[in-house]
Amino acid sequence: MIKWLDELFGQTGYMPHGHCYLWNPSLVATHVASDLLIGLAYVSISLSLYALIRKIKLPFSSMVLSFGVFIGACGATHFMEVWNLWFANYWLAGLVKVLTAAASVATGIWLVRLRPQILEFAEAAKLSAARSAELEQLNRTLSDNQKLMAHSAKMSALGEMAGGIAHEINSPLAIITVRANQLERLVQRGALTPEMIVTESKLIANTAKRIGGIIKGLRSFAREGEKDPYEEVTVESVVQDALILCQTRFESHAVALELVGFEGNPTIECRSVQIGQVVLNLLNNAFDAVHQLSEKWVRLELRQTDSSVELSITDSGKGIASNLRSRIMQPFFTTKEVGKGTGLGLSISKGIIENHGGKLELDSSSPNTRFVITLPIRHGHGGQVPK
Ligand SMILES: Nc1ncnc2c1ncn2[C@@H]1O[C@H](COP(=O)(O)OP(=O)(O)O)[C@@H](O)[C@H]1O
Ligand SMILES: [Mg+2]
Repeated sequence: MIKWLDELFGQTGYMPHGHCYLWNPSLVATHVASDLLIGLAYVSISLSLYALIRKIKLPFSSMVLSFGVFIGACGATHFMEVWNLWFANYWLAGLVKVLTAAASVATGIWLVRLRPQILEFAEAAKLSAARSAELEQLNRTLSDNQKLMAHSAKMSALGEMAGGIAHEINSPLAIITVRANQLERLVQRGALTPEMIVTESKLIANTAKRIGGIIKGLRSFAREGEKDPYEEVTVESVVQDALILCQTRFESHAVALELVGFEGNPTIECRSVQIGQVVLNLLNNAFDAVHQLSEKWVRLELRQTDSSVELSITDSGKGIASNLRSRIMQPFFTTKEVGKGTGLGLSISKGIIENHGGKLELDSSSPNTRFVITLPIRHGHGGQVPK
């Protein structure tokens, strides 16, 4: 028989237990290395499958488990190949093969039986992918809507201020008209001196500049400003930009405005349009809260530490009810009547201040309603890295 095989393969040195390549050490090394690698790969696949079904609860994990056993058993048959080169334990090898066969048959049957369930699972996965795409779309719409709402909140604030702003522009316009008429009269009377022309035209120019400032303030308030570069500005200029849009409203309702602590003229690095909007939001809220009270005042107070400035806006109101405190900064929370409040002022303001690395807080320890803005003096020195 061995002789016949020798003839068949034209080789010599065929070993009695069937491995016909033992005479060649390179062949032995090739087979041993490959069998070991294949075996290890199989075992690692089956271990990964096991780890996977422990982590993810699949509806057909028993099938995956039996597939894992099958793959592991395949690995074992390759290890047996290596083992048998030296120990020739064919009964053990046969047993491993029987196990592999059993696992493969079980996996095959399971796979056929679970086909509908697997299809269902794939369908569900497809559906959930579609649903998350839908959700993403909804989120996008929501964020678009929020942007729109933020814009309309700003517009409604502008609308509220419109009366005041018209007044704010009308009074300097009246000054210009009066002065121009005065000049004309002086010319008619022949009493116009060069000094008079200089004085009057300076006054007209300054008054026109004031109108320009109001229009600039209006335009910057309507802008988003979220992509502006950070620039160094004095806190006072930011506050003045906000005041120019609401001062007359305060005056016409006899709400006293007081500025305290601005003497040092500290500067901060910020997106000034955005910080101006926050101050204006807080001033408008303070105005809404006090303009019908008998005692009506608003105080802006500035304090500076080594690395930050603290701007507080206090009004003559008696604070915010404890059950509302946690809600006032939430988007859309308002206690104002429909059409008046949007409930976005504080939440938008908080977002802006936090993006600057600062804080916007209600100081509930104060006897009067007091909001405090804390801002780092240098850009990027706050707790949060600005976007
Ligand atoms: N200075 C304040 N005094 C009293 N309540 C205030 C003050 N500022 C804010 N609030 C309360 O917080 C709520 C939310 O304010 P805000 O986000 O600016 O929205 P809105 O002004 O549109 O209502 C207000 O409706 C009001 O109840
Ligand atoms: Mg508001």
